[in-house]
Parts: sequence; C-alpha cells; structure tokens
Amino acid sequence: MKKIEAIIQPFKLEEVKAALQAIGIDGMTIGEVRGHGRQKGHREVYRGQEYNVDLLPKVKVEMVVPSGRADEVVRALAAAARTGKIGDGKIFVYEVAEAIRIRNDDRGESAL
Ligand SMILES: Nc1ncnc2c1ncn2[C@@H]1O[C@H](COP(=O)(O)OP(=O)(O)OP(=O)(O)O)[C@@H](O)[C@H]1O
Ligand SMILES: [Mg+2]
Repeated sequence: MKKIEAIIQPFKLEEVKAALQAIGIDGMTIGEVRGHGRQKGHREVYRGQEYNVDLLPKVKVEMVVPSGRADEVVRALAAAARTGKIGDGKIFVYEVAEAIRIRNDDRGESAL
C-alpha cells in the first residue's frame, strides 16, 4: 500500500475530489494547512498596506491506496490540481506498512 499526500490550492479541492471519485477512490482525509514552497510565500496587499505573507493557506489531501493504483491516482490528482502557475502544490508518496479497519479488524488492502 502507498500513502499519497498532496498539498494543493484550496480552490482546487472540489475538482480534485471529483477526479478521485471518478476513478473509484473512496477513503481520504482532508486538512486545512499553511505552508510555503521555494518562493517562501509572497507579498500581499491588504487595505492598501503591503504585508509579508510567508505561510499561505493550502489543503492537504491524504489517501492510502493499493500500491498497484498509486501511479494512476497521482496522475489523476496532479491533472486536476494543476494550473501551471507557481504554488500549485506538491505530491509526496510513502510506503504504508499496515492498515486496519477498527470496526472489524480488516487488515491490509481489505481495510482501505
Ligand atoms: N519540500 C516540501 N516539504 C513539505 N511541504 C512542501 C514542500 N514544498 C512545498 N510544500 C508544500 O506545498 C505547498 C505548495 O508548494 P509550491 O507549489 O509553492 O512548491 P514550489 O516548490 O515553490 O513549486 P512552484 O515553483 O511551482 O511554486 C507549500 O505551501 C507547502 O505547504
Ligand atoms: Mg512555490
């Protein structure tokens, strides 16, 4: 199993969710996070004042999928999240040692 963690632009969440649903990915966790990439945030103007905003709002999407589906999920996710501009986000892929459905002790891919 692989864990796919994507940091995306918040306004892309609905499109990303729809793309994942379309390929049959059911379980996911979403979180509101803040972060910056290599531009280290940017300057924003608010009520005429210029502020240094170094941590921008992003959405984190996490899902654990069978290893055989990881590439397909990454492709669908990236296509849905991409605008081609800086700040589009990032995808990290991890190995997962075990998954357990708490209700009935299903293990491994049966628990996803
Ligand atoms: N190396 C990293 N480790 C952890 N989180 C990261 C990393 N790089 C980016 N992120 C997260 O992804 C978000 C979006 O990053 P972003 O797309 O700006 O990356 P970038 O490397 O600056 O690429 P780009 O040049 O396309 O903007 C960041 O706000 C941060 O939350
Ligand atoms: Mg950036």
